[in-house]
Amino acid sequence: MEQVIRTRGLTKDYGSVLALDDLSLDIGPGITGLVGANGAGKSTLIKVLLGLVPPSSGEATVLGLDVIRDAAAIRARVGYLPEHDCLPPDVSASDFVVHLGMMSGLPRVAARERAAEVLRHVGLAEERYRPMGGYSTGMKQRAKLAQALAHDPRLVLLDEPTNGLDPAARDDMLGLVQRVGQDFGFSVLVTSHLLGELERVSDNVVILDSGRLLRASQTRDFLDATGTLLVEVIGADAQTRMGHALAAAGVPVQARGGLLALDPAPELGLDVHDLIRDTAFDLGVGLVRIQADHRRIEDVFADA
Ligand SMILES: Nc1ncnc2c1ncn2[C@@H]1O[C@H](COP(=O)(O)OP(=O)(O)OP(=O)(O)O)[C@@H](O)[C@H]1O
Ligand SMILES: [Mg+2]
Repeated sequence: MEQVIRTRGLTKDYGSVLALDDLSLDIGPGITGLVGANGAGKSTLIKVLLGLVPPSSGEATVLGLDVIRDAAAIRARVGYLPEHDCLPPDVSASDFVVHLGMMSGLPRVAARERAAEVLRHVGLAEERYRPMGGYSTGMKQRAKLAQALAHDPRLVLLDEPTNGLDPAARDDMLGLVQRVGQDFGFSVLVTSHLLGELERVSDNVVILDSGRLLRASQTRDFLDATGTLLVEVIGADAQTRMGHALAAAGVPVQARGGLLALDPAPELGLDVHDLIRDTAFDLGVGLVRIQADHRRIEDVFADA
């Protein structure tokens, strides 16, 4: 597998805190969720990968480039959405993204085209000439995403892009993150303190705990390991009909609030996701979402 990010024994000692503790990680292409509680070391890892913070010991490469020797080359190829506000309030999103594109070497006309494209992509086509100081939090987060894409990077590091957003805006932002990964073909590392939020958009999940690697695996393995899936369907009698059909297919189902909770036995050897999709299609029922039961997925922390 092509390595996008590789660390070996990576340690960051801030003196009073060991923010990264002997971290060895291999991250391949696609969308990777980096999950951990507050203070777990997510932002520190991202800053080390960008060459913004020197590690105390150990090594790391990004796109095959060394974080100490090749920091400038890494920053030329990697987009970054910082966790804190980084937007000049008096500047419009358009001017800001054009400026960043030109700083990275694009001629003015190309930088303008690129800025218009990424701002349209994040849904800021209308507001792009307004000063960013007047933006809502949701618009600011989208402008931050746009600036990370300004120079056509190969990898983007997104530090809590959903921070401060209401549930609907969170869903929108996660949809954008997913499209960045899929449409533009970039690799993405995206952080959150909520595992349940990233499992929907990530191919792989890495969990940090006090600067140490707690777990790294395919998102699908998490779902398998934690068992219960929650399914939301819409339509006339959708929940009842879906429940009966899945039970008939050998998957026991319980109603939980407006959702169906499934505990597929692994020995069935079924691809439960496919079964759910096919069943919904056959019944003409609208499938809103399939997600792992968050309470169970929190147990990943408890187990370890
Ligand atoms: N510049 C610094 N100087 C001293 N300690 C720091 C510094 N930056 C981070 N830390 C400490 O390192 C640890 C990891 O911080 P970090 O910001 O990487 O965590 P995080 O996972 O991003 O947390 P959050 O979810 O709150 O953003 C924390 O204990 C933090 O207080
Ligand atoms: Mg952080």
